[in-house]
Amino acid sequence: MKGKMSDCSATKRLPPARTGSSPDAPALHLLLAKGRERERERIAHELHDGALQSLVGIKLDVEKLVSEIETRPPRSVAAELTSVAGHVRDCIKEIRAILSDLEPPDVDSSDFTETLHRYIDAFRDRHLIQVRRRVEPVQTTLSAEQRLCLFRILQEALSNVARHAHASCVGIELGTAGGTLELRVSDDGRGFDVSRRRDRSHYGLRHIRSRAAALGGAASIQSSPGNGAVVVARIPIEEGSAERRKA
Ligand SMILES: Nc1ncnc2c1ncn2[C@@H]1O[C@H](COP(=O)(O)OP(=O)(O)O)[C@@H](O)[C@H]1O
Ligand SMILES: [Mg+2]
Repeated sequence: MKGKMSDCSATKRLPPARTGSSPDAPALHLLLAKGRERERERIAHELHDGALQSLVGIKLDVEKLVSEIETRPPRSVAAELTSVAGHVRDCIKEIRAILSDLEPPDVDSSDFTETLHRYIDAFRDRHLIQVRRRVEPVQTTLSAEQRLCLFRILQEALSNVARHAHASCVGIELGTAGGTLELRVSDDGRGFDVSRRRDRSHYGLRHIRSRAAALGGAASIQSSPGNGAVVVARIPIEEGSAERRKA
C-alpha cells in the first residue's frame, strides 16, 4: 500500500506481520465450519445477554404497572410507559443489528470491494461513527473462502469497535504491497491491554488470528489503554491479483 493511509488511532504503524505459506484449503474448510459453530454460540450469547434480559426487564416493568395502575396518577403511568417503550425500541434495534450481521455476505459477487463498501456504509450508519477508508479492489484470484475470511475479520474488528472502543472514528484500509494483501482496522477509542488473559468466551480476536493464519498469513492486534486499537491482517496473494484504485 502506498501513499498516506487513513488512520484513526494514535498508535504507531506496526512492523510487517510474519506471513506464512500459501492457504491450506482443508484447514480453511475446518476453520469455516468451526467459525459457524462459534457464530451460533456468539448469537446465543448476544441474544441471552442483550435482548432476552431486556425483555425480562420490560415484562417486570409492565407487570408492576398493571398492579399499580388503579392507584397511580395517569401522568406517572404515562411517563413509565414512555420509558418502557424506549426499552422496547432499544430491544428492536439490537435484534435488527443481530439479524443484519446474520445476512450472508455477498462474497461471490464479481466486485468484492462493493460488498465491503456496503458493509462499511451500513456499519457507519448504524453506529453513527466517522469512517475513514481506503479500499482497493481485490477480486481476481481470491477464492470465495478467502474473501469470506477477510470479510469475517473485518466484521469482527468492526464489531469490537462498536461494542468496546467508544471511538469517534474508525479507519479501514485494504490494499496490497509486495504480494501481500493487508487489511487494517484502527480506532481512536479507549483501547485495552492486549496482554491481559481473557476467558474463553472472548474468542473474537482469536478468530481474527486463526482466520488470517488459515489464509497463510498473520494478524496482529496492537492496543493499550487510552490509545485506540489497531488490527492488521496480512495475507499472501499472487502478484497482480489486486488492482490499484482510489476508493
Ligand atoms: N477496538 C477495541 N477497543 C477496546 N477494547 C477492545 C477492542 N477490541 C477488543 N477489545 C477488548 O478485548 C476483549 C476481547 O475481544 P474479543 O476477543 O473480540 O471478545 P468479545 O468481543 O466477545 O469480548 C473485549 O472484551 C474488549 O475488552
Ligand atoms: Mg469481539
